[in-house]
Amino acid sequence: MYRIVRKEVLAPGLKRFDVEAPLVARSARAGQFIILRLDEWGERIPLTIADLDPEQGTVTIIFQEVGKSTQLLGQLEEGEYIRDFVGPLGRPSHISQLGRVVMIGGGVGIAPIHPIAREMKRAGNEVISILGARNRQLLILEEEMKQASTEVLITTDDGSYGRKGLVTKVLQELIIHRSPINLVVSIGPLVMMEAVCRVTQAAGIKTMVSLNPIMVDGTGMCGACRVQVGAETRFACVDGPEFDGHLVDWKLARQRAQMFVAEEKQALQEHEERRKGGLGGCGCHCHQ
Ligand code: NAD
Ligand code: FES
Repeated sequence: MYRIVRKEVLAPGLKRFDVEAPLVARSARAGQFIILRLDEWGERIPLTIADLDPEQGTVTIIFQEVGKSTQLLGQLEEGEYIRDFVGPLGRPSHISQLGRVVMIGGGVGIAPIHPIAREMKRAGNEVISILGARNRQLLILEEEMKQASTEVLITTDDGSYGRKGLVTKVLQELIIHRSPINLVVSIGPLVMMEAVCRVTQAAGIKTMVSLNPIMVDGTGMCGACRVQVGAETRFACVDGPEFDGHLVDWKLARQRAQMFVAEEKQALQEHEERRKGGLGGCGCHCHQ
């Protein structure tokens, strides 16, 4: 059992937990992820690590309450426990001194870009971070990203903070005015990562993206997380989650991300009806 030592509501539907998991905190590196489960029957939720404190033995996760399982997770309070918290999983980001690198975090994707930016800066790179959110309220980790970067550029879709527009607009300007850029790392919605890759491919800039497809075991056994990268089928859980964005088959990735949308919607609907009916919602079979 893994205790939640700190809980923070970052924005509506967006929560941060610091979880006591000393073994994970001491061995994880930037770019890796964990899989958690709320109870014996619960869905396995993969989350890329947002921060680590090896001395306190805590791992920070930031998640969006998009379905039944993440809503149940968000209902847990400080001092309560998560049943399973397995990690670190996946390959760490490749950190090296390259010169000028651009980190792009979109929405909740800012959380996993944070430790990568920090390590890239520690390695001696000039780190320019572009953070994109739909509006000011949904922009997370601004201060943390300022610490982790040489420079931070902010965009909001509605113009309520920073520049109005999408992250790709600022990226295009950087390519014109601040080249050479030696690497781009982009994490966020699939459409954003794909759009970033279109821009960087035209400019010939190597681009890494972090994919979070549906996962089950997280150890390369089930094949649920398969993605097509170049001519190869790869498993995001063991071969990734980071891949060369110019080689990702984005159409297939989008199709696979939609595979269980109807089932997820139904599970969420049933969960909300149960809550409204006053039956509680711990997510276990006692309510079925
Ligand atoms: P969002 O829809 O609010 O978008 C965030 C930003 O992405 C926007 O502000 C915009 O600047 C940019 N963007 C969106 N569409 C774009 C487009 N077509 N072209 C260029 N830029 C575009 O993001 P959200 O609702 O917070 O969703 C975050 C997504 O990130 C989720 O889908 C989640 O699955 C994913 N995510 C991935 C990881 C990972 O490790 N790969 C981790 C966390 C979250
Ligand atoms: Fe099963 Fe990756 S989650 S192979």
